[in-house]
Amino acid sequence: MKKKFVTLLVVGLTGLLFLAVGALSAADQPNDVLIKGKDYKKDKKGPVEFTHEKHSKDYKVACTDCHHDYKDGKNVWKEGKPVEKCKACHNPKKKEGKVMKLQNAYHRNCKNCHKALAKEGKKTGPYKKCTKCHQKKKK
Ligand code: HEC
Ligand code: HEC
Ligand code: HEC
Ligand code: HEC
Repeated sequence: MKKKFVTLLVVGLTGLLFLAVGALSAADQPNDVLIKGKDYKKDKKGPVEFTHEKHSKDYKVACTDCHHDYKDGKNVWKEGKPVEKCKACHNPKKKEGKVMKLQNAYHRNCKNCHKALAKEGKKTGPYKKCTKCHQKKKK
């Protein structure tokens, strides 16, 4: 009796695990992301609403333009692999070796692309006005 219950439990849990994995790969990217770091030395600016799905589907930005995992200087991350949060590697408080701190990583990623596209005269996102990305900070 007890054994049967354990077997059932194991079968049930395995099923759940498959479900969870299935759900992850089906919804392989978030729709919108509210980027709202909490571990900065000073949290000066409000959060940033980022249209994740639009960037990849409508603006046709490749996943690898933003997601990476460097091995020997080469980006070995591929679509389908798990995605780590930027702050898993970019420290919000300080630069670590070659790895720039979180604020700079975001600014360099987001603003540099927008700026480069503007230079080419293409449709682009904001890179000058802070409030085009940062929401007002709630007191
Ligand atoms: C223009 C930049 C950009 C592009 C293009 C992009 N992403 Fe993202 N993605 C982000 C940012 C920024 C986050 C939020 C990261 C964080 O919270 O640290 C994120 C988060 C995610 C997450 C959630 C991670 C988590 O743990 O919260 C997944 C999954 C993901 N992206 C997958 C993808 C896939 C797959 C593609 C391509 C189809 C893609 N992304 C394209 C910038 C981008
Ligand atoms: C698995 C660890 C890891 C994660 C996760 C990660 N980074 Fe990085 N990132 C690095 C490392 C290491 C470098 C330095 C590479 C070098 O200079 O050789 C780097 C470099 C960069 C650079 C400068 C070079 C370049 O590729 O343009 C930017 C900008 C950047 N990261 C932004 C981000 C953003 C934005 C996210 C989240 C969407 C993110 N990183 C997630 C490890 C990571
Ligand atoms: C490789 C290029 C690229 C990167 C990286 C990128 N963007 Fe954009 N972004 C675009 C383009 C292209 C548009 C506008 C396209 C249009 O209007 O047709 C845009 C538009 C926007 C807009 C205005 C329209 C909207 O959808 O909200 C905001 C805000 C924005 N980006 C924020 C961000 C943030 C925040 C990041 C970093 C996490 C980021 N972008 C990274 C290319 C990029
Ligand atoms: C293209 C979008 C974009 C623009 C434009 C932009 N930022 Fe940011 N910035 C970000 C993102 C994304 C983060 C990461 C937010 C987080 O983790 O909370 C960030 C983080 C920061 C941070 C660290 C987090 C905090 O709240 O203290 C500061 C400070 C900051 N930005 C200042 C500025 C200033 C000043 C300007 C205008 C000169 C500006 N930013 C323009 C996207 C942008």
